[in-house]
This record gives sequence, structure tokens and C-alpha cells, in this order.
Amino acid sequence: MWGSIPPRNPNFTGRVDLLHALGDRLKSDVFTAVLPSALHGMGGIGKTQIAVEYIYQHLGDYDLVWWVEAANPTHIRASLTELAKVLDLPRGRGSQHGRSSGS
Ligand SMILES: Nc1ncnc2c1ncn2[C@@H]1O[C@H](COP(=O)(O)OP(=O)(O)OP(=O)(O)O)[C@@H](O)[C@H]1O
Ligand SMILES: [Mg+2]
Repeated sequence: MWGSIPPRNPNFTGRVDLLHALGDRLKSDVFTAVLPSALHGMGGIGKTQIAVEYIYQHLGDYDLVWWVEAANPTHIRASLTELAKVLDLPRGRGSQHGRSSGS
């Protein structure tokens, strides 16, 4: 299952070493791999492209791949809410943010 992943760039080229290094780092985390932890650099240098290419090369290795746009907290929350829906997670204590009732 995967969601919200940007389309693959058919013109993606090179980056073989980086993709391998990324794989090594992600595999040390058995249950959950968080991609951006391994990607940083100047704007436009190709971080998103590497993440996207990695995902398409390894879709079969994961039960779930979810793209979380982290530009701002609202994006993050919306994306995780979408994920919760897809997973059919029950809305529980955790979904109510802040001090709502009572105390
Ligand atoms: N390996 C690649 N092969 C071909 N084109 C690439 C590659 N890497 C980057 N590009 C081109 O450069 C553009 C910018 O790359 P990308 O969006 O990944 O940058 P970024 O580092 O995520 O930038 P930002 O920090 O602004 O998010 C892409 O839209 C693509 O056209
Ligand atoms: Mg980017």
C-alpha cells in the first residue's frame, strides 16, 4: 500500500551511490524507515528526486509507503490523517488534540 507519492521521473539519472547509501541506512531500521533523515542539501539539488526514485525501486520491499509533505505542520497533519483513514484506524484518545474537556 502506498500513497501520495510524487510521480516517478522518467528522466532520473545517476545517483547510484546515493541510492545505495540510502538503502543501507534505511535497512538498519527494520520496522519503520523515515527517508528524509538521510537527505539534506541545497534547494533544487535533487533530494526529492532521490527519495521518489528510491521509493519506486523498493516499493515491493515495504508493506506501506507513505509520502508525508512536511513543508509545514498543517501538511504533516493532513497527510497523517489521510494515512489513518486508509489504514482504517479508529479515532481514539490520540486524535483529540489539546486540552479539550474537563480539567
Ligand atoms: N537524478 C536526477 N536526474 C534527473 N533530473 C533530476 C535529478 N535530480 C534532480 N533532477 C531535476 O532537478 C529538479 C529538482 O530536484 P528536486 O525537486 O529533487 O530538488 P530538491 O533538492 O528536493 O529541492 P527542494 O529543496 O527545493 O525541495 C527536479 O524536478 C528534476 O527535474
Ligand atoms: Mg524537495
